[in-house]
Amino acid sequence: MSPPKNPLKSPLKSLIDEPSVPPTPRRYFIETWGCQMNELDTQRMAGQLMQQGLLPIQDPKDADVILLNSCSVREKAENKVYSRLGKYRRFKKRREDLLIGLCGCVAQQEGERALRRVSDLDFVLGPARVGELRQVLEKVRSGRRVVATGFPEERAYEFDTIERDGTYKGMVTIIEGCNKRCTFCIVPTTRGPERCRPFEEVLGEVRHLLELGFVEIELLGQTVNHWRDPHRDLDFADLLDAAARLPGLKRLRFMTSYPRDFTSRMVEQFAHHENICPFLHLPVQSGSDRVLRRMGRGYEVGAYRELIASLVRARPDIALSTDIIVGFPGETEEEFRQTLELVEEVRYSSIFAFKYSPRPGTAAPRLGEAVDDAVASRRLQELFAIQSEIQRELNEVLVGQTREILVTGLGKHPGTQTGRTSCHRVVNFTCGDSPHALGTLTSVVIEKALPHSLIALPSSAPSVGVSAKPRNASLPVVQ
Ligand code: 5AD
Repeated sequence: MSPPKNPLKSPLKSLIDEPSVPPTPRRYFIETWGCQMNELDTQRMAGQLMQQGLLPIQDPKDADVILLNSCSVREKAENKVYSRLGKYRRFKKRREDLLIGLCGCVAQQEGERALRRVSDLDFVLGPARVGELRQVLEKVRSGRRVVATGFPEERAYEFDTIERDGTYKGMVTIIEGCNKRCTFCIVPTTRGPERCRPFEEVLGEVRHLLELGFVEIELLGQTVNHWRDPHRDLDFADLLDAAARLPGLKRLRFMTSYPRDFTSRMVEQFAHHENICPFLHLPVQSGSDRVLRRMGRGYEVGAYRELIASLVRARPDIALSTDIIVGFPGETEEEFRQTLELVEEVRYSSIFAFKYSPRPGTAAPRLGEAVDDAVASRRLQELFAIQSEIQRELNEVLVGQTREILVTGLGKHPGTQTGRTSCHRVVNFTCGDSPHALGTLTSVVIEKALPHSLIALPSSAPSVGVSAKPRNASLPVVQ
């Protein structure tokens, strides 16, 4: 029998270094762009990597696995991913074993093309294949380049392996994909057709998160309020009602709602359950009926206004936010003014506004003349200026008031932390030498209002509702 190759190796090391087993990468880095669905997909992938013994790392240069979880909703985001891939592939010169994977919506959109375009890319993993990361890595380690895209019927969804450390709220996907056909939007192509998770499975995951100590739960879906139980006659209002009754749930949110699918029973839930946060993100996209028609949104501004009025009646303290696209093909100055009017009337607590960006395979580019980029930029700036003033005014009303906030991270300056009010406003507050754990609730007094955030001091009242198992106060490692 030949002597062992290296007699000085520790027994553990020799086990790991078994000649037939390839060296296992030890550290991972995931860069995430885009929506909350992507954030959650990142947590799902991180969980699978950690199960394989990999640990997160802050600097991609030292990683053994780099994943780019991409967004393709606008062209800019897509370009960014390719430029990042160009940067990361250079790390392979130093680290031969480095594996690079393109994930998220650009992965689904590009598929094989991405492998051809970037020679050092090892695999492409679409959003509906996130649960297969482990198997894909196995294939990659055996020397293959892999494309895992598309929308299989049976998909792995293991919620108990999701890596939730460093996050302050428990996110729960309830519906994936989108069946709408908005003429500007690429999401139905990249995230596929709607698939709803069953009622019991969703509630099971929410209970699991409450047991872990989360006090805030966010239900997620591209059209979250279009959720229906796949087997029984239960809709999103039933799900909200059931979730809000779960003991220990202090804050329930959901994202993103589609205006046309918002029923009066859903509105009523805001009145019935105080722990449903008085906040709703309700993308309107435009204040012009002609533009909405060409966007294929399926509602008119009048119906949207009525919906807002009924929400305010049900929950007078409700804060609203929205998405707006400026410069949709053929949008006239008058149509843009109608958007400004709506924004001034609703007085949103925040808006996400974007210049229209043509997306492959969508109908919008054929529906009107492209708006000049300089005109679209000017419209966007005008919109932001009006909104900024509205936000400052709305925030000013809160000065002197006590608010309960959920601690979301460390602040920019030593001795400060950040948090969110129940209506989702960002609060920077002084914590001194004793920072609160992420994901716990505390009371603060608002001292100062800025357009995009509030400054606060701890309230003298004792902090309330601290979660059962506070998690670490360090900032999330996964970005
Ligand atoms: N151009 C600009 N903005 C877009 N959005 C979606 N598609 C596009 C596009 N092609 C915006 C919408 C949507 C948000 C997530 O992104 O406002 O609600």
